[in-house]
Amino acid sequence: MTPVVLDALTDDDADRCAELEAVLFPGDDPWSARAFRDELRAGHRYLAAREGERLIGYGGVALLPGRLGQQAEAEIHTIGVDPAHQGRGIGRALLDGLLAAADGIGATTYLEVRVDNAPAQGLYRSVGFEVLGTRRRYYSSGADAHTMRRLPGCGTPAHAPR
Ligand SMILES: CC(C)(COP(=O)(O)OP(=O)(O)OC[C@H]1O[C@@H](n2cnc3c(N)ncnc32)[C@H](O)[C@@H]1OP(=O)(O)O)[C@@H](O)C(=O)NCCC(=O)NCCS
Repeated sequence: MTPVVLDALTDDDADRCAELEAVLFPGDDPWSARAFRDELRAGHRYLAAREGERLIGYGGVALLPGRLGQQAEAEIHTIGVDPAHQGRGIGRALLDGLLAAADGIGATTYLEVRVDNAPAQGLYRSVGFEVLGTRRRYYSSGADAHTMRRLPGCGTPAHAPR
């Protein structure tokens, strides 16, 4: 079997990311290719999971270093795995990579997740995220989101894709 490799997402991946978003987030404003290019241009940290030439997962985090004694912060902007490849440890490996970057600057990390998204919440809890609160009608579908928070360096075992 072709091994799954993690590396940096590039502009050339944007169309495929948008294709995956449309499948993974229907009805919740899936991101366009342009949105991904804007994220990269903004300097956010994006990882790609590839099986051979094929992009099968992606994830990104915004890093805000702490200045003048303020706590550094990070925000997971998106993470997604091709449905045909879910359950192989790829989402966890992507998240580990993003959290390593957040831990590198000692950041507290935040994210929003649909209240009914049990798989994603299970993944986030397993690496130290806790629910901080709920944002009503956060998504364009009208669904609510939990805001989750993870303190720096909290529970980050290294995992490889299966
Ligand atoms: C969330 C997502 C990225 C996880 O990716 P994945 O590659 O399937 O996840 P992994 O195989 O690495 O599994 C990691 C953990 O997620 C949780 N998980 C994964 N699938 C699950 C399921 N169907 N039910 C419950 N928990 C699940 C488990 O805690 C799992 O850990 P374990 O294997 O040790 O039990 C993937 O399901 C996805 O792309 N979902 C749609 C997009 C999405 O919701 N993104 C998050 C938006 S906030």
